[in-house]
Amino acid sequence: MEIGTPLLEGAKKLLWLGGGELGKEMVIEAQRMGLETVVVDRYDMAPAMHVAHRKYVVNMLDGNAIKSIIKKEHPDAIITEIEAINTDALLELEQEGFRVIPNARAVKICMNRLDLRMLAAEKVKVPTTAYAFAETSEEVKKACKDIGYPCIVKPEMSSSGHGHEVIYNESEVEEKFKEALAHARGKSSKVIVEEFINIDRELTVLTYRYPLINGGVQTKSLPPIEHQRPKDVYYYVESWHPSTVPEDVAARAREYAMRVVDELGGFGIFGVEILISGNRVLFSEVSPRPHDTGLVTMASLDINEFQIHVRSAIGLPTPEVKLVTPAAAHVILANNEKWAPKFINVEKALEIPGVQIRLFGKPSTYYKRRMGVVLATGKDVEEAKEKVRKASSLILVS
Ligand SMILES: Nc1ncnc2c1ncn2[C@@H]1O[C@H](COP(=O)(O)OP(=O)(O)O)[C@@H](O)[C@H]1O
Ligand SMILES: [Mg+2]
Repeated sequence: MEIGTPLLEGAKKLLWLGGGELGKEMVIEAQRMGLETVVVDRYDMAPAMHVAHRKYVVNMLDGNAIKSIIKKEHPDAIITEIEAINTDALLELEQEGFRVIPNARAVKICMNRLDLRMLAAEKVKVPTTAYAFAETSEEVKKACKDIGYPCIVKPEMSSSGHGHEVIYNESEVEEKFKEALAHARGKSSKVIVEEFINIDRELTVLTYRYPLINGGVQTKSLPPIEHQRPKDVYYYVESWHPSTVPEDVAARAREYAMRVVDELGGFGIFGVEILISGNRVLFSEVSPRPHDTGLVTMASLDINEFQIHVRSAIGLPTPEVKLVTPAAAHVILANNEKWAPKFINVEKALEIPGVQIRLFGKPSTYYKRRMGVVLATGKDVEEAKEKVRKASSLILVS
């Protein structure tokens, strides 16, 4: 499904729904291209608002609020930066002729674990973990029995690992199913039950689509980024580029990513998450936008994921992206609740050669909120990782 004319000649204005750290970098890249930028988010002073021409603060699950802002601003393209958006409003806007990046259907499918899994495993037929969908604790029990313990349940809609519960035996089903639903976004009582695998490596394959001048679409994937999370939490803290998985594994991951992304369609960059377990290479999920783990591309690539997304959004090509150096990124997390946080020891972190810091400018902290990221280059990813670990361990958010 292609929407609108591919190349937006004379495109002037982009509007973001969601203004976090990824939005901020996208806005900066758009500013560099002379575009007008508008950011909408649910709280004031969100990171991207600091660098945009205009901002709006509304509840983004409120379809009417979104529609009225977009009709007033009339952007050339709408870029969604988070999942918690009223996607039916996006579908309507697209029907009326607005360009949604990558497209409204892809945004709606990617925020729903059940729809995305059906698309990837049943339509595109890329390998995934064994899974089943369930809506009652009886159905969860049956799914776990069929798949085999341990299982992981995830709500139909949620992000950053919210509501992920590992179930080790039947006696835990009731409680963990309830817990998963308690962290779901929206009112759905559906969950996906997946085989709980031993993850050896985790990759993000950035994959992008842009229109060709003579018609048609170019899809390209980049060498995988690798990332890691601490045991027992389900969000990433460190990523590095390039990944050190064998060539054939990287090639399989890139092939699956391209196939899923081509089915989602539209223009823009996608972050395709791949899990490696033994000799299995499994598609997991995809962000229809730049990916958190891709912040590392600000150090590793000549053209970062944000610039690629902005270009693709308005129909401009990115025929080649070069990996210029091994690099790593490590998040800076808050560990308490506070307004107007201060960052201590930044000067010590910057003493380490090759280290850069991006502080997102969020107005307040809460426990485990991502407040910034440390980037570093190195002669190899090991050296880059050592630098970001050292630098991020020095910095305190207070
Ligand atoms: N089936 C699974 N078995 C083991 N670990 C998993 C499984 N699925 C996801 N994970 C881990 O949980 C993390 C978050 O899961 P994911 O499905 O990507 O949800 P989110 O949308 O919250 O990022 C993954 O990056 C991976 O480390
Ligand atoms: Mg994920």
